[in-house]
Amino acid sequence: MNTTCVIGLQWGDEGKGKIVDLLSADKDFVVRCQGGANAGHTVVVKGNKSVLHLIPSGILHKKTKCVIANGVVLDPKQLFLEIDELKKKFGINVTDRLFISTRAHVVMPYHKLLDAMSEQKSDTKIGTTGRGIGPCYADKYSRKGIRVADLFNKKHFEALVAENLKEKNMLLQHLYGHTPLEADEIIREYQDYAKRLKPFVCETVNFLNEAVTAGKAVLIEGAQGSLLNIDLGTYPFVTSSHSDATGISAGCGIAFKKINNIIGILKAYATRVGEGPFPTELKLEIGEKLRANGEEFGSTTGRPRRCGWLDLVATKYTANFNGIDSIVITKLDVLDDFDEIKVCLAYEYEGKILREFPADIDVLMNCVPVYETLKGWRQKTGDCLKFEDLPLKAQEYVEFIQYNMKTSISMVSVGKDRERTIILEN
Ligand code: GDP
Ligand code: IMO
Ligand code: MG
Repeated sequence: MNTTCVIGLQWGDEGKGKIVDLLSADKDFVVRCQGGANAGHTVVVKGNKSVLHLIPSGILHKKTKCVIANGVVLDPKQLFLEIDELKKKFGINVTDRLFISTRAHVVMPYHKLLDAMSEQKSDTKIGTTGRGIGPCYADKYSRKGIRVADLFNKKHFEALVAENLKEKNMLLQHLYGHTPLEADEIIREYQDYAKRLKPFVCETVNFLNEAVTAGKAVLIEGAQGSLLNIDLGTYPFVTSSHSDATGISAGCGIAFKKINNIIGILKAYATRVGEGPFPTELKLEIGEKLRANGEEFGSTTGRPRRCGWLDLVATKYTANFNGIDSIVITKLDVLDDFDEIKVCLAYEYEGKILREFPADIDVLMNCVPVYETLKGWRQKTGDCLKFEDLPLKAQEYVEFIQYNMKTSISMVSVGKDRERTIILEN
């Protein structure tokens, strides 16, 4: 069995896209199994940048097949923008290489509107990406959702849109003071999408399981980060799906016993976009320096990312529930010009030391990180090809993480490009 998963251990944007692209070179399939166009995965090949939101990052390897599985919420408009951009920018053709599950739920115009309205009008802002993710998953779980398969049954689709609009238009008009949406317009727009989607749509569960059993190499591309997980993350400041390894089987139908390698991606410091607790956040000079060095601006929304030191209380927690086999450290080079680097090993709250990641949002908002301070290396790491090429203090930083996480480090990324990666173990 050869099924590898790449999972973000923090609040997303750990550099999953780069690592997925790198690992995809010898993969038969790369699969997205949850989330939607809220994801923004950056791949840089020979200085050429591409940001993928729905299409798996393996698409840049011409022999790799990519699957958007049942657990994804699919926005067809965004999908076609991405398909067109891949063609224009990279000459990549997705025909015969992209497979979309009949069971994936479809993001509708009212999902995006309700996402935006709820953010504007509610007292607790999540700081969502505005891609309609929460409302679409809410419909899925209240069994009102529209799936890809439904787009191809015109009568049924029309009935679903009409039924949904009864409720959504009530909310839009009476709660948010917005003009109601017209069923006919939506139906026309989505029937056009259906025509264009048709060649990509298929049953993905059997073929993925059969591929795994036949020894094909399958890579599952995590989206978001484990701390944004609906069940185990910093609720309610989370996304609406299982953005960690626990959601993989449900999200793509590959039996969980067939998944044999889980790689946790850990950025050498911490970032978060949107609202919610972030104990190690640095609001002043150091935070700004991390943002500038790391070019920490959202790949999907362009928002400045909040930045702070690495929080090992949080990442030990996420490593545990993901059951990771190894860690990839990314963006080590961003720390190249710091005199001192801090790592959080515990929190202090009301005079008590906490070593567990708390569920209580107030505790997380108000706890004070307990740091260990390490010396910086003040040397460039971007050209290092081997671990031994790294400055001694940078090697010690990596070893410190390995020791505290009690998990081996399999790669260290020192730049955006595919090539700027130190491989420690396969
Ligand atoms: P993802 O959502 O986890 O795929 O991460 P994003 O693509 O949203 O954000 C990661 C950002 O860091 C992107 O701009 C990448 O090009 C960049 N990046 C990835 N790895 C490295 C690295 O090792 N060093 C530097 N300097 N940038 C990196
Ligand atoms: P990738 O895959 C970082 C965050 C949003 C917001 C919260 C809920 O690029 O790592 P949503 O639109 O999902 O309802 O927003 O989750 N969020 C992400 N943050 N990276 C992501 O994806 C994210 N996807 C969602 O900023 O705080
Ligand atoms: Mg991202």
